[in-house]
Amino acid sequence: MALIAVTKESRAGETRVAATPETVKKLIAAGFAVTVEAGAGLTASYPDADYEAAGASLAKTAKAAVEKADILFKVRAPSDDEIAALKSGAIVAAMLNPYQEKATLEALAAKGATAFAMEFIPRITRAQVMDVLSSQANLAGYRAVIEGAEAFGKAMPMMMTAAGTVAAAKVFVMGVGVAGLQAIATARRLGAVVTATDVRPATKEQVESLGAKFLAVEDEEFKNAQTAGGYAKEMSAEYQAKQAALVSSHIAKQDIVITTALIPGRPAPKLVSAEQVASMRPGSILVDLAIEQGGNVVGAKLGEVAVTANGAKILGIPNLPGRIAVDASALYARNLFAFAGLFLNKEGAFAPDFEDEILKAALVTQGGAIVHPSLKG
Ligand code: NAI
Repeated sequence: MALIAVTKESRAGETRVAATPETVKKLIAAGFAVTVEAGAGLTASYPDADYEAAGASLAKTAKAAVEKADILFKVRAPSDDEIAALKSGAIVAAMLNPYQEKATLEALAAKGATAFAMEFIPRITRAQVMDVLSSQANLAGYRAVIEGAEAFGKAMPMMMTAAGTVAAAKVFVMGVGVAGLQAIATARRLGAVVTATDVRPATKEQVESLGAKFLAVEDEEFKNAQTAGGYAKEMSAEYQAKQAALVSSHIAKQDIVITTALIPGRPAPKLVSAEQVASMRPGSILVDLAIEQGGNVVGAKLGEVAVTANGAKILGIPNLPGRIAVDASALYARNLFAFAGLFLNKEGAFAPDFEDEILKAALVTQGGAIVHPSLKG
């Protein structure tokens, strides 16, 4: 029987956990054994006793959990000590941040680990249930609006009172992928007037179906900006200049700007210039969801609230899903549970088929080497 280990996340500020009592129960029913490091779920409000009740054994330390395991489930990359404790050939599944954390991949390869970067799960129908980028981005988009509303000194909905009318907040969402769509929906639920932009033409209809208004330069380049995989291409300097000119006058009138634009494997595109930030009214808020990939807003600082000379605030909050750790863990753990199903053969025995399209796409290290085509060299 294959043993899955789940340990406490070691990275500063990481509150999520890679399995919940619910998924432990399901993993055991599927034929795995599970060991959980004591306290692993505490920051996400999942107590040890609930893991035990679900059938997991508790390990006193991460080392004790990892050294016997065939599979290690993590939210972020394992620590150096955890990598050192891995059995040779053990499977690791985590959000390894493969483009930015090469040293971890090298350490995993050197240890002989069979590591999967959950970010590389392909966007095919069969893999939707394992899509960690979607499950976490959705919550990040929601939380970005909550954080923005909290920092904003005015109300979100229009309110008519005896003392006069309170105006609805104007919210502009830049980048309408999974996070952006949820940000639009959340801001609308709170009663804001919402506009949004993206470089992928498919987003126009999605924005409008959520009751928001779409704003973009719709030229030839825009019409071809979506890759076959559904992601955005990096836009030309020319397009970015046209887009900037279009959104400039718009940004000056907004109360809250939420940016979510990403291009896989590239630094985040800069969408809001210092001049545009300076054009906003005092008390305006910018929430930069791309901050961990370099940020979309000039002047945004990771882990800080940057207050500009004109009195706008740029929130550079890292790990927004970690601020909603109970739900973020629950969804991530279900993604991993579905992924673990790929390690079993038709008879339910532990026998990963490395020719499976999904395993192949997410595999980053195996047999002592970094094997993913986009990471070699
Ligand atoms: P992402 O997180 O990679 O990027 C966020 C958004 O930023 C994207 O909509 C992108 O077009 C936009 N962007 C990039 N450069 C920009 C710029 N210069 N200006 C404005 N916006 C810019 O995207 P995410 O959330 O991963 O979604 C990508 C696509 O994948 C979407 O079409 C989504 O619906 C699709 N998807 C498909 C799934 C499936 O079929 N299984 C699952 C999840 C998402």
